[in-house]
Amino acid sequence: MLPKHIGIIMDGNGRWAQQQGKPRLYGHQVGANRAKDIVLAARDRGIGYVTLFAFSTENWKRPISEVQGLFLLMEEFFRENADELAESGVKVNVIGDRSRLPRSIRTVAANAERITANASRIIVNIALNYGGRWDVASALRRIAEDVAAGRLDASDIDEDLISSRLATAGQPDPDLIIRTGGESRISNFMLWQAAYAEIYVTQTLWPDFRDEDLDAAISFFLSRTRRYGGLKTAPHNGRGEGG
Ligand code: FPP
Repeated sequence: MLPKHIGIIMDGNGRWAQQQGKPRLYGHQVGANRAKDIVLAARDRGIGYVTLFAFSTENWKRPISEVQGLFLLMEEFFRENADELAESGVKVNVIGDRSRLPRSIRTVAANAERITANASRIIVNIALNYGGRWDVASALRRIAEDVAAGRLDASDIDEDLISSRLATAGQPDPDLIIRTGGESRISNFMLWQAAYAEIYVTQTLWPDFRDEDLDAAISFFLSRTRRYGGLKTAPHNGRGEGG
């Protein structure tokens, strides 16, 4: 079975730009265009959910000029692409701590969510100022508030309840995570949700990642599924049998 939800750690924009003798931001710009094309390719292949790691809670450590450039790029991305994404059946959902983001991004991101709200072919989560630990901590804080207010009992807290309070509430967990740029780290991406994901690492730098590379990642996923298929009922059922 195809993956239901693909998470993508889009790494290597800076190195790619450097190889071309261009500024790092140029790599991010080409990377943003790639992101759009890959979402459309995932839609055409019948994938229901894609999560793109666009800005992590750790990315604030980069030089201010790069952070500001990334924000400008993202603002432009939302502004210029929202209508086309809506027409293409792509529903945009921004996940992450919005409170620290510039107001201008919060506004265009909310507009993109509104414009694409009725699209139903694929949901794309754009992780902005997102970290897996932030996600779990926020969920636990809300649960603790409910317990303190008497709306929940501590004994109600189980895995499903925690999942239902994460930024991806109601969505299937990612069953395939792609990382470009060759590093084999999860880098604080969807820590809770990735518990049973297959992880596909490619040396390809994100701006070079093409539809064929997506197909290679999906084939990898399918081969992993097949490997366990004869032995256990369902390796990707989120509960670990065979996983
Ligand atoms: C990692 O490459 C990439 C990022 C930190 C930013 C990813 C952002 C985009 C692709 C643009 C925005 C996308 C959307 C969907 C709005 P790196 O800079 O760490 O590369 P390096 O490892 O080669 O230095």
